[in-house]
Amino acid sequence: MFDRGRSAHRSAHAVPGPDVLLLHGSQPGGVREGPGKVRDGSAAGRAGPRALMFMRPAITGALVTLAVLAVAGVLGTVMFLKATGLSARATPGPVEIAVAGRLRALAVPSDYASLTNPVLTNSESVANGMAHFADHCAQCHGNDGTGADMGKDMFPPTPDLTASSTQELRDGTLFYVIEQGVRFTGMPAFGTDTLEGEESSWHLVNFIRHLPRLTAEQLEEMAAMNPRPPAAIRQEIEAERFLRGEDIEPAAPSHEAGAH
Ligand code: HEC
Repeated sequence: MFDRGRSAHRSAHAVPGPDVLLLHGSQPGGVREGPGKVRDGSAAGRAGPRALMFMRPAITGALVTLAVLAVAGVLGTVMFLKATGLSARATPGPVEIAVAGRLRALAVPSDYASLTNPVLTNSESVANGMAHFADHCAQCHGNDGTGADMGKDMFPPTPDLTASSTQELRDGTLFYVIEQGVRFTGMPAFGTDTLEGEESSWHLVNFIRHLPRLTAEQLEEMAAMNPRPPAAIRQEIEAERFLRGEDIEPAAPSHEAGAH
């Protein structure tokens, strides 16, 4: 159903494709029609092999300009890094945020952005997305979507998913970000290239839409679904075994005094 050609855009999955190389393909020169005669018309049409000889200085000039720009780019980057360091601690400035936002708009292929959510928003779908979010997303985004410590320390930090900047994104854009991730950021790609995976991403989109209206009970439910560290899980198993009157011997740490 969602099986469209996966495009090699800016997703965290993408590998530069041959289209990148095509950009450097040469333009054919003009076509000679007879001795000394060149078909006139477009500028490219007039540029026969002889004309190309005269264009050489222009081409050299262009190459020099490109080289100068490249050196300036490298120097600029070095100066920028020296000034700011590579720390992910800095807060992105307004220009960086604007550029990143623009890049994302360019990077989400329009056939994704214009997708309509095929999964109806109802309490079942929201509950499905909520369970998935509590398990896979909350460690960075927080159960309420406003950001957990881990996400806040990233560069760029996790955006507040309840804010209008996220809520105004189209369903297809949210779907794309979940499936493909955001390259150069902490946002992983969750796509599995299966229909089930895509369906659960759509449930997540429905849940993200619901985030601004999350209730206290739902937050509590999510807290119970958050992944727990192994020690907490072990403690719980021990408590259960103890309640069942089982022998709690090897798993349980000693309760006697002086164990530590
Ligand atoms: C390891 C940390 C991490 C995890 C886990 C994670 N995210 Fe993210 N997420 C990020 C970061 C960082 C960004 C910001 C990317 C950017 O700047 O474009 C982000 C961005 C997003 C965005 C784009 C919001 C916007 O306004 O640009 C959505 C939607 C999103 N995440 C949903 C999810 C969902 C759903 C999950 C779980 C299936 C998830 N994320 C799991 C770190 C994470």
